[in-house]
Amino acid sequence: MENNMRPETMPRITTNSLAQAFIAEQVAEIRAQVGSKKVLLALSGGVDSSVVAALLIKAIGKQLVCVHVNHGLMRKGESEDVIRVFREGLDANLIYVDATDRFLDLLAGVSDPEKKRKIIGGEFIKVFDEEAAKLSGIEFLAQGTIYPDILESIKAQESGKPVKSHHNVGGLPEDMKMELVEPLKFLYKDEVRVVGEALGLPHGMVYRQPFPGPGLGVRCLGAITRDRLHALREADAILREEFDNCGLSKTVWQYFISVPDMKSVGVKDGARYEGWPAIIRAVNTVDAMEASIEEIPYAVLHKITQRITAEVPGINRVLYDLTPKPTGTIEWE
Ligand code: XMP
Repeated sequence: MENNMRPETMPRITTNSLAQAFIAEQVAEIRAQVGSKKVLLALSGGVDSSVVAALLIKAIGKQLVCVHVNHGLMRKGESEDVIRVFREGLDANLIYVDATDRFLDLLAGVSDPEKKRKIIGGEFIKVFDEEAAKLSGIEFLAQGTIYPDILESIKAQESGKPVKSHHNVGGLPEDMKMELVEPLKFLYKDEVRVVGEALGLPHGMVYRQPFPGPGLGVRCLGAITRDRLHALREADAILREEFDNCGLSKTVWQYFISVPDMKSVGVKDGARYEGWPAIIRAVNTVDAMEASIEEIPYAVLHKITQRITAEVPGINRVLYDLTPKPTGTIEWE
C-alpha cells in the first residue's frame, strides 16, 4: 500500500513549470521501467487516458500501442478527434477499431439500463482483448489511474466493501501477464489537466466534461435505435456548441441531451410531425453524489431549442430538466 500513497514532498502541480518538471521526471521513470519493450493502452479520448498517451508518446514514442475502440456511442466528432490529435498530430501508433455495428446489434431491443451497461462494458473488454491478442511482444499495460481512484480503492478495502473496479481498466485475458504503467497515479484531476496542457494536448480534450463509459448508450433511453441515436448525437452537438458560444461550458460540470423512446404530435411545414423530445440537463456538483441545476439564460435555451428542432431530424420538442440530484440522478438511466 505504501508505494500507493502520494509522497508528502510532492508539490501540487498548478503551473506549467511544475508540470514540465513532473513530465521530465516521469519520462525518465517510464524509460527506466519499460526499456525497449512495448506498452499497450486503451485510449478512450477521455482526459486521463489522453494525458497518459501523450506522456508515454513523449517517453517511448512508437513503443506505445494505443487502441481506440469506437463503440458507436461516442459523442459527435470524438473518435475523429482522437485520430486527429494522436495519429496525425503526435504520430502515435494507434489502432482504431470501429465496433459500432457489433455494439448496436447486441443492444438491439434491450431496454433495461443495467443490461445495456453490462453489454457495453462486456463487449468493450472483448473487443480490446481481441485487439491485444493480435499483438505480440507487449509486456506492459498503461492505465490512466489517478489518485482519487487509489484513495477510493483504499477506502473501499478498509470498509470491507469490494474494491471499485476502475471503469477505464479493461479486463485482460488470463494468459496476458502485463506489468502496469500508471504515471498519473499520484495526481488529482486538476493536476492531470495542467500536465495535459503542458504536453500540448488541445484545451477541449484536457477540459472535457465527464462522460460515462457507456456513452450515449445511457442517454438514448430505452432500447437504442440507430435513428434515435443519430438524433441524440446531433442534438447533443448543438447543445455543446451553444454552451461553448456563451461560455457556459467553462462553468457547468456536466451538460447533455437525453432522448426518450417516446413520440409526441407536432407540426412542421404545416403538416403533422411526430417526433421525440430532446431533454436538456445541465448540472453542477463536486463529487457527483449530489447535483444542483445550472441556470441557463432563457435566450440560450431559446436558441438551442430553435436550432435542435430546425436542424435535427426526428426531434420536435425540447424540454429542460430542472430536477436536482436527489431526486433525479444525473443521467436518466
Ligand atoms: P448518476 O446518473 O449516477 O451519475 O447521478 C453520476 C456520474 O456518473 C456518471 N455515470 C457513469 N459513468 N459509467 C461511467 O463511467 C456508468 O455506467 C455511469 N453512469 C453514470 C454520470 O455521467 C455522472 O457524471
